[in-house]
Amino acid sequence: MVTKDIRYIGVNDRKIDLFEGQYVVPEGMSYNSYVIMDEKIAVMDTVDGNFKEEWLANLENELAGRKPSYLVVHHMEPDHSANIAEFAEKYPEAVIVASTAAFNMMKNYFGTDFSDRRIVVKDGDVLELGEHKLEFIAAPMVHWPEVFVSYDSKDKVLFSADGFGKFGALDADEDWACEARRYYFGIVGKYGAQVQSLLKKVSKFDVQIICPLHGPVLKEDLGYYFNLYLTWSSYGVESEGVVVAYASAHGHTKKAAELLAEKLSENGCPKVSLIDLARDDMAESVEDAFRYGKIVLCSITYNGDIFPFMKDFINHLTERNFQNRTVAFMENGSWAPQAARVMMKMLENCKNITYAKNNVKITSALSESSIAQIEALAKELA
Ligand code: FEO
Repeated sequence: MVTKDIRYIGVNDRKIDLFEGQYVVPEGMSYNSYVIMDEKIAVMDTVDGNFKEEWLANLENELAGRKPSYLVVHHMEPDHSANIAEFAEKYPEAVIVASTAAFNMMKNYFGTDFSDRRIVVKDGDVLELGEHKLEFIAAPMVHWPEVFVSYDSKDKVLFSADGFGKFGALDADEDWACEARRYYFGIVGKYGAQVQSLLKKVSKFDVQIICPLHGPVLKEDLGYYFNLYLTWSSYGVESEGVVVAYASAHGHTKKAAELLAEKLSENGCPKVSLIDLARDDMAESVEDAFRYGKIVLCSITYNGDIFPFMKDFINHLTERNFQNRTVAFMENGSWAPQAARVMMKMLENCKNITYAKNNVKITSALSESSIAQIEALAKELA
């Protein structure tokens, strides 16, 4: 139970290995759905298609023989929208409430846009259920175009769609920020400007409870969560520290990256995140790149280019509008090192990047000269 009238009817997915086909979710995933019990009953979103029966049973249990008046659709990605058609069939009197763009997507997903039983909402519209009044707030491109969030003025609840969501089922015993940050930068990271504008719109409401579509309902210390979202969406630095991300073929670049990490710590750097791009989780690596203010990109030269793991990593950063960071390079090459040039070129459109004065050039293996460069870089960044 979220409040006396707002009930949780979502599900935990402990079977899934890759959320959206790409993010490892060792602690599973929750697909949240809620029902508001009032004179009129509103169901807030559905869940993933694999959990249709469980969700419908949860709903029926809360309805206790009553019938829902509305299905409110905040977001059309299938982890939330998959059961709209089944719901509509099971409850033929219910009206579907969504944005124009969402109804267009329904036509594509289900072959109907429910034109005979729908309410199309736009920014600022209010749906009255009785005591509960839901105000709709458009959130285009957070992270799909049709997204709305809504605010219930009676219980002061923000239904935040994917916003404030995290990886992990609801019974996972884990830190909120770690998996919420990995989720945010993986899925919403590109859309910082749109998240900022949504946060601004939401700031006029007295939000006491956040009901996201993934992860726990947030009821306490909401300033903590809003502040993290303000930092993340503005590409600000959340924690002091240096990321050392390396792509190594035979271990020499790895050894150099490890030495740099050691020297950074010796020089007093509060946190060093050492990442093996060939083996560590990409979403964790991306998360760290956006969490800390400084990053050293360490790659071998490969086919006149850089190692594919580093290329993939930098692409993940640039497509998410990587900015406001200090960047240094460590390159290795046995005959013509040029990884630093290639990496810098890949970052050329990123805003507000400060390049370190010291970089590291290795020719095959660590030498006196490259060790001295590592020491200088460690001093500069720490
Ligand atoms: Fe949880 Fe964008 O779907």
